[in-house]
Amino acid sequence: MHTSSAPGAAFLLGEHAVVYGEPALLCAVERRATASVELIERERDLIKAENLDLSGFTASYSHGETDLTGDAGESLSYVTTALDAARNYLDSEQRFRVEVSSDIPIGGGLGSSAAVTVATLHAVFNAVSYKIEREELADLSNGVEVEVQGGNASPSDTYTSTMGGVTYIEPGSGVNEIDAEEIELSIGYDGGDAPTGEMVAMVDRRRKNVPEVQSTIETIGDLVDRGLDAVRSGDIEELGTAMNINQGLLEAIGVGGGSLARMTWAARDAGAVGSKLTGAGGEGCVVAVPDSPEIRSCMSLEGEYAFSSCQAEGVRSE
Ligand code: MEV
Repeated sequence: MHTSSAPGAAFLLGEHAVVYGEPALLCAVERRATASVELIERERDLIKAENLDLSGFTASYSHGETDLTGDAGESLSYVTTALDAARNYLDSEQRFRVEVSSDIPIGGGLGSSAAVTVATLHAVFNAVSYKIEREELADLSNGVEVEVQGGNASPSDTYTSTMGGVTYIEPGSGVNEIDAEEIELSIGYDGGDAPTGEMVAMVDRRRKNVPEVQSTIETIGDLVDRGLDAVRSGDIEELGTAMNINQGLLEAIGVGGGSLARMTWAARDAGAVGSKLTGAGGEGCVVAVPDSPEIRSCMSLEGEYAFSSCQAEGVRSE
């Protein structure tokens, strides 16, 4: 078996706005998805997953048709679409046995689906002994997300999961790895998840109907550039200020949520200089700076659990 793992990703600043051409700033986090792949001589791919949702699943897959045991949620489509993308890229009919696991909260705003996709593709290319450049792997993974999410997926999560560290996403001009000072994060999880595609579509409708939502999105873009200077110079207070304003603006465009707001304030009351939701919003995770046991324990009282993270390494062979 060829095994690869890829990290989750937290938005320090800029989710949703990045879908409409604004920049975003992300940090890879120390929770990973793992994929093990071997080549098989069968008509169908065989896919098994554990820890991706409560029940796990096994599935066989061929040409868009899946036989499934268990509850796959959305995760299975990322794996099957990634396998088709790899076959297409390699111009091959090769079938694969794939085992996937993850300790990233599923659908919780930490790029769990991107990490599953990146780890799966990396392991597939290793299994067929094809050396793919990281940028190309990130592009291919983004294509998988765009297909599964119905057209609205920025390269933010897939690029950050591939490269690791801190990344600055500038739609249209490219994606950059940032030479950032060490960032320590407290991350709280409320136990819930929100469908990214639906949250993005909801913001899009509001943006088209309410001009102030569009101008709020542009203001989020300005905050990202302020945050970029802050992470480069290691100014956590300045980053925190930008995160707090970003949280207010995310609530204004309708992607806040009760448990996310409670964890955000629990973190600030415990000494965080910045805290905000990460990802699609509604439910999921809150990211706070700096990291401290008090911040984590206060967030977990309002949610399900909290953990600490600093910049994680990108996709790698295990
Ligand atoms: C989802 O993790 C982040 C969004 O900005 C969508 C995207 O960037 O594709 C909401």
